[in-house]
Amino acid sequence: MIINIDRNSSSPIYLQITSQIREMILSGTLPEGYKLPPERKLAEVLEVNRSTVLNAYRELKADGFIGAHIGQGTVVLPVVKNNIQSNDHFQEPLQWRQLFSQNASRMREPLLRDLMELASRDDVISFAAGIADPNLYPLEEIDIIQQELIRGSNKAAFLHNPTEGYYPLRESISQMMRARGVFASPEEILVTSGAQQGLDVIARAFLDPGDIVIVEEPAFFCALQIFRASGARLIGVPMDDAGMRADILESLLTRYKPKLIYTLPTFQNPSGAVMDLERRRQLLDLAWRYQIPILEDDPYGELRYEGNKIPSLKAMDHHGCVLYLSTFSKIMFPGLRIGWLTASKPVIRQLGMVKQMEDLHAGSLAQCIYDEFLRKGLLEQHIKKVNKEYLLRRNAMISAMERFAPDNVSWNKPLGGFYIWCTVPETMIKSRLLMKAAEKKVAFVPGDAFYIDEQVQNQIRLNFSYHPPELIHEGVRRLMEAIEETLLEEKRGSSSKNINMKPIV
Ligand SMILES: Cc1ncc(COP(=O)(O)O)c(C=O)c1O
Repeated sequence: MIINIDRNSSSPIYLQITSQIREMILSGTLPEGYKLPPERKLAEVLEVNRSTVLNAYRELKADGFIGAHIGQGTVVLPVVKNNIQSNDHFQEPLQWRQLFSQNASRMREPLLRDLMELASRDDVISFAAGIADPNLYPLEEIDIIQQELIRGSNKAAFLHNPTEGYYPLRESISQMMRARGVFASPEEILVTSGAQQGLDVIARAFLDPGDIVIVEEPAFFCALQIFRASGARLIGVPMDDAGMRADILESLLTRYKPKLIYTLPTFQNPSGAVMDLERRRQLLDLAWRYQIPILEDDPYGELRYEGNKIPSLKAMDHHGCVLYLSTFSKIMFPGLRIGWLTASKPVIRQLGMVKQMEDLHAGSLAQCIYDEFLRKGLLEQHIKKVNKEYLLRRNAMISAMERFAPDNVSWNKPLGGFYIWCTVPETMIKSRLLMKAAEKKVAFVPGDAFYIDEQVQNQIRLNFSYHPPELIHEGVRRLMEAIEETLLEEKRGSSSKNINMKPIV
C-alpha cells in the first residue's frame, strides 16, 4: 500500500490519506478483507501524527469502506455499489466527498458534533461540552417575556429585522457593555447568531487563503477550525501564568505580518487562564505598534467566582485595535443563539454585509427575548445566581480530584469560567484513555484538539458547569479510575491492536 503525502497541498493530510485508500479500495488494489496497517504503524511510515491516520480511518469507516473487528484489526469491507440494476447499467455511486469544494473539505472535524451528542446522553457523565446547566436557566422569566411578545402589539419578534440586529437589542447590549467598561454605541454592535457565527464572520471579512493568524496555545478548537477553513495559516504563541507570551508574540509580529491576533484573555477555553493586566497592556501596545487587529473572544468574562474583576482588552483599548466578541450562550443558555461583535462603525458595516450572506439576521424572537430580559434588569441577577452555583461545582470538582486523582495527574483551579485543565502522564495513549473512560460512562475533551498541530497529548479539559456536585464527584471518581487502569495496562504493556477508533462515546 503506497500513500504519497503532499505537504504543500491545501488539502489536509488526513483527507489525502482517506482519498488514496478509498481509490485503492474502489479500484480493487485493496481487496475485501485486506488488513490495513495499525494507525500507529502507518503514522510512523508516513511521518504524520497518529491522530491524522485515526481521522482518515474514521472517515473511511463512516463511508463504509473499512471496519474494525476485534482480533482482526482494521479490514477492507465489501464495496457496496449503489444503483446497480444489471451489469449493463452499472453506475458507480456519486463520489460526493470528491465533489465538495476544498473549503468544505477542510470543515469535517467531527469533535463538536460528538460533544453535543454526548451532552444529550443520559447514561454518560459528560465533562466534555461547555454548557450551562439547564436546571439553572431562568425559564419562568423567559416564559413571561415570550407571552408578552406574543400578545403585545409590537410584532418585531416575528418579522425580519436589520442584519446588524434588532435596534432595541443593540441599545440594550450597548448599555450592558457600558457596565463592562466598554463605551460602544448601538451602531458599533453587530448581533450575531451566536459567537460561533461571529468568529466565522470575522474570518470571512478579514482572512484570505495564506493569511497568518496568531493564536494563543492552547486555543478554543472551533476558532482554530474556522480560521483553518478560511485557508489561513495558524501560528501559536505559548501561554504562561500571565497569558499569551508577549516576547514570543513580538518576535512573530516582526517576522510575519499576521492579519489577526486571536485571544481569549478571561477564563480561557480550555485552560481557564486569565491574562494579567500588564500582559493586556503589552498586547494592546504591540497590536497598535504593528497595526494588527486583536479578536478578543469573551464568553466567560462575567462568570467570575473569586478574585477581582479585570477589564477586558476592549475596555482598555484606546486605539480601536480590538474586535470584541461575546455571547449569551454561557451566561444564559446556548439554544437562542445570540452573540454580538463590538467594533468601530465602518467595521460593523462591513461585517454586517458578510453576515447578510450567511443568514440575513439573527432570529428575531430570540433577539426580542434577550432585549426584554436585559431591559428588565434580569441578567445581572441571573449571573449572580449562577456564579454562586458554579463556585460550588468548581469546588466539588477540585475536591473530587484531590480525593481520587493519582499522583501523576495535576490540574489548575480557575477563578471563573467553565473548565478545569488537567495534565495526565505523557506516556498515556489518548485513545486508550478515551476507550476506558467510555467504558466507565464518563467523557472529557482530549487537549490535543486545542493545539494547532494536535501535538500535545497529555492534557484534558473538564467542564464543571453542567452537572450538580454529586454527579461531578461520581464522574471524577470514574475518570480517575479510568486513568489509573489505563496506566496500569500500559505498564503491563498490553497490546493496542484493538482500539476502537471513535474518540468519544
Ligand atoms: C471561546 C468560545 N467562543 C465562542 C463560543 C461559541 O459560542 P456560541 O454558542 O455563542 O456560538 C464558545 C462556545 O463554547 C466558546 O467557548
